[in-house]
Amino acid sequence: MDHKWIAKTWLVLGLLLLAVALQAERTEAKPQGKSRLPSFLTVCYRDSPTLNECARKSFKSIKPRLMDGIPEMYIPQMEPLIVPEVKMDQDSGAIYLHSVYKNVKISGISKHTLNDLRIEPSKLKFIVSMTFPELLMEAEYSIKGKIMMMPLLGDGHCKVNLTNITMQTELFGQEYQKNGATHLKIIDVKVEYSLSNVHMQLDNLFNGDEALGKRMNDFLNENWKSLAEEVRPLMTKALVDILRASVDKMFAEYSYDELMPKKNN
Ligand SMILES: *[C@@H]1O[C@H](CO)[C@@H](O)[C@H](O)[C@H]1NC(C)=O
Ligand SMILES: *[C@@H]1O[C@H](CO)[C@@H](O)[C@H](O)[C@H]1NC(C)=O
Repeated sequence: MDHKWIAKTWLVLGLLLLAVALQAERTEAKPQGKSRLPSFLTVCYRDSPTLNECARKSFKSIKPRLMDGIPEMYIPQMEPLIVPEVKMDQDSGAIYLHSVYKNVKISGISKHTLNDLRIEPSKLKFIVSMTFPELLMEAEYSIKGKIMMMPLLGDGHCKVNLTNITMQTELFGQEYQKNGATHLKIIDVKVEYSLSNVHMQLDNLFNGDEALGKRMNDFLNENWKSLAEEVRPLMTKALVDILRASVDKMFAEYSYDELMPKKNN
């Protein structure tokens, strides 16, 4: 179904956004003392009036590295992004599905446009908006369930093409003390997204029955919009969970002052 695909996409986007948020936090200027952050990252000061310009510029300048991944910062390779396994179980509204996707490969993340990147240090708020013109996903899937009263069953290769995805994420942090340093943790995440089109192809549905398989693929593609709405809360939640877990890992590793120091102490 498109929703699980989309969910994967969201997780990808989630990673990207967290990457963005992270990058945003350290940019411009030279690190003070010996920084544990990668040296190609400069630092943006959180009390600087040009913090947002700094963050945006920095994000753009490290984009190629971001796409290759930055292991020290818990950021995986983004182009393509490989996710070993994703499980999606859903039992709500008109959809009842159990599904697993293996070796999920997502391409197109590097072609994004950054629409907005803002940091409000006084509120510990991070805002990121991006548009992805096209994301292509491939995986080995296994699905069993019912969708709008129709049985859906299959396992095999699948491809999904998502067009014109715009996603806005707001992360809200909170300070806490750890080993004598101030760290951040994410206490709330808001995600909104829109997309223009979804096209998917699930091979080998219904034990390889080609006529049934074609009919189901056609049905899914014709109804992607309502299906996507149906699963929007779940997809949003999945993304939020992933985002929060990933960003928190980085925030736990690096203190607030390491990521985004103050110029005037
Ligand atoms: C993806 O979909 C868009 C529009 O629906 C289309 O223009 C594009 O060629 C598709 N890409 C692939 C690789 O199928
Ligand atoms: C892409 O989506 C946005 C809404 O998020 C819409 O305003 C825009 O017209 C769309 N562009 C294309 C090429 O479909």
